[in-house]
Amino acid sequence: MKFKKILGIDIGGSGIKGAPVNIKKGTLIGERYRIPTPDPATPDAVAEVIVQIIKHFKWEGPVGVGFPGVIQSGVVRTAANIDHAWLDLDAQKLFKKVTGLPVSVLNDADAAGLAEVKYGAGRKIKGAILLTTVGTGIGTSLFTRGKLFPNCELGHIIYNGMDAETWVSDAARKREALSWEEWAQRFNEYLLELERLFWPELIIIGGGVSKKDKKFSDFLSVKAKVVPATLLNEAGIIGAALSAKVNSDQIM
Ligand code: BGC
Repeated sequence: MKFKKILGIDIGGSGIKGAPVNIKKGTLIGERYRIPTPDPATPDAVAEVIVQIIKHFKWEGPVGVGFPGVIQSGVVRTAANIDHAWLDLDAQKLFKKVTGLPVSVLNDADAAGLAEVKYGAGRKIKGAILLTTVGTGIGTSLFTRGKLFPNCELGHIIYNGMDAETWVSDAARKREALSWEEWAQRFNEYLLELERLFWPELIIIGGGVSKKDKKFSDFLSVKAKVVPATLLNEAGIIGAALSAKVNSDQIM
């Protein structure tokens, strides 16, 4: 059975957001619903929020979930910004069990990238695309010829002897009370390092900072074209739904 509407959910550091997505157009159907991320964000606490989002929309169809860590066949492999009880846990199985629905889980930055490449800033670009989501952590996704190389964790390259994410995330900007210019200089150095290693043709900036790109874009000096994510903060929800489409077309 082909689904036209899929519920997309994005598990973030501060909020868990969901909305039904029109898969053909790549748009949200109605208002998204947000619940603050539980603290600690243990598997049971997060699963309970997922159930609440499903109840809110009275949802009965397939669900796609973007998760802030490496996901291999539904299993969580890293947990830099979420409770460590998630490590090696089958998140997909857990969410299927608590919801009774077909659920598929993927990395949150991969979800945002899928949405931007299909519907947004990366549409029709065949060359190498790097998307970085800048929020509580730094998420990255890489594409070539429109195809995803999953789970690349370039937010954790060691830069200046430090995990890059600790130095350049939006959380770092807030924690260290950096001005936009100070933060942009760090972000520029980080992008230059990624460019030195990967040479993407296009860099898409997603996550919370994507709507503030006027405050930092003048400070970026990479050769690649740099653009904000056109789907802004909705990319994670839309991409999660999109990835579930592939699975639910097979399941149902
Ligand atoms: C995680 C990534 C995730 C990113 C954004 C990083 O700390 O390692 O898997 O995509 O945060 O949530």
